Amino acid sequence: MYRLFYVSSARPDMQSIDIDTLVNAASMKNPSLGITGALGYDGKRFAQILEGAKEDVLALMDVIRSDNRHSGIVVMDEKSVEGRVYDGWGLKQLDGLIFEHFESAMAEA
Ligand SMILES: Cc1cc2nc3c(=O)[nH]c(=O)nc-3n(C[C@H](O)[C@H](O)[C@H](O)COP(=O)(O)O)c2cc1C
Repeated sequence: MYRLFYVSSARPDMQSIDIDTLVNAASMKNPSLGITGALGYDGKRFAQILEGAKEDVLALMDVIRSDNRHSGIVVMDEKSVEGRVYDGWGLKQLDGLIFEHFESAMAEA
């Protein structure tokens, strides 16, 4: 099991409705990829955690990197882990960007 945390800058014309659309689509797709995770958005930036088999997380990350709805993607942390923090979630939508949330999720085994 692998867990990856990145931050990025949202394209300036993104609206909250666009974020809802993005999260809905990802929530449907992630379970079929064996991926769980969470996405935060504060109106300017995204922060996301993806969990799953390492090759699946990295393959999805390649797709997400080339998405023009954001730029300046910086991987903050990535590591092998024992279990999932977001079990049962395709993509959990978080209100705002609370770094402690992402950091404590990354600290889980
Ligand atoms: C900030 C951000 C987070 C994303 N997160 C996911 C995700 O968790 N899962 C996913 O499948 N696509 C995610 N996407 C969308 C992908 O970049 C891509 O558009 C989508 O996977 C394409 O799906 P499709 O091939 O079914 O059209 C994200 C895009 C952005 C901008």
